[in-house]
Amino acid sequence: MSALAGPQSSPEASPQASPQASPQASLHASRLVDLLETRSFGRSIRWHDQVTSTNTLAVEWAGIDAADGSVICAEVQTAGRGRFDRTWKSRKGDNLTFSLILFPGLAADRLGMISVAFSVAIVATIKNLVRPKQIEIKWPNDILIDGAKICGMLQESAFPSGGGQKRVVVGIGLNINQTGFPPVIRDRATSLKIITGREYDRVEILASLLGHMEDSYYALHKGRGSILRARYEARLSALGREVTFVKPADGVSAHGIVTGIDARGGLVVATPTGRETILTGDVSLKME
Ligand code: BTN
Repeated sequence: MSALAGPQSSPEASPQASPQASPQASLHASRLVDLLETRSFGRSIRWHDQVTSTNTLAVEWAGIDAADGSVICAEVQTAGRGRFDRTWKSRKGDNLTFSLILFPGLAADRLGMISVAFSVAIVATIKNLVRPKQIEIKWPNDILIDGAKICGMLQESAFPSGGGQKRVVVGIGLNINQTGFPPVIRDRATSLKIITGREYDRVEILASLLGHMEDSYYALHKGRGSILRARYEARLSALGREVTFVKPADGVSAHGIVTGIDARGGLVVATPTGRETILTGDVSLKME
């Protein structure tokens, strides 16, 4: 994919199915390594049949001996996690549920740009598959098609005491071949198969996605954050629209027009009392 040198690269491929993995999981891991065109993303891969949460395992692995760009993938999670302690449910073997381990050479206040970079990468991976449908990004990192969520991302960072290297785990759930969802999310969830009627090869999509993610990540490290921001804003569902949100500083509810995102990945809102930048949380589109 990218000819750029990464922040840290580890060109050795090492598919590692977990000791109890099925032959199929091992096969997915070795097919992935064959298909990858990355320098480091996915070059060290653990593909499990069942885990609690790939993010939980990735956080542990990151604290032991994981290389930059290592990936943990699972056929099913028993305790998949979303933002704000929500659960993430995904039918066994239908979708992609994986976590990527990073040791980014970025300042702490730029870590929010990782999810901007990866949202752009997810759009680049699936846009040709779903054309003519338009893909939108709901800040900070939900990917929507026809207003329904096809992909969610959970970024978790650790700053080891004593000045060790920053670790970031990015967990991604991308709905691919699942066609039925639990009633509580049925109207709000979608998948590639629901949109196109086709069945997809998950390993091929993961290889392509990791390629786009690596390109975006290197672009960020090479000072090309403004290009990523422009691509992100071009898909931002709230851009130019009125939103309501709770101001983190004082917990007071506010409203305003979204004007873009800043260099930290924060959402910039022009309110009647001035400019606010929201770095965490959610915003709601105001009903017209
Ligand atoms: C969200 O939309 O709230 C984020 C969802 C993130 C789900 C993925 S699935 C793989 C990884 N492991 C988890 O437990 N969560 C993330």
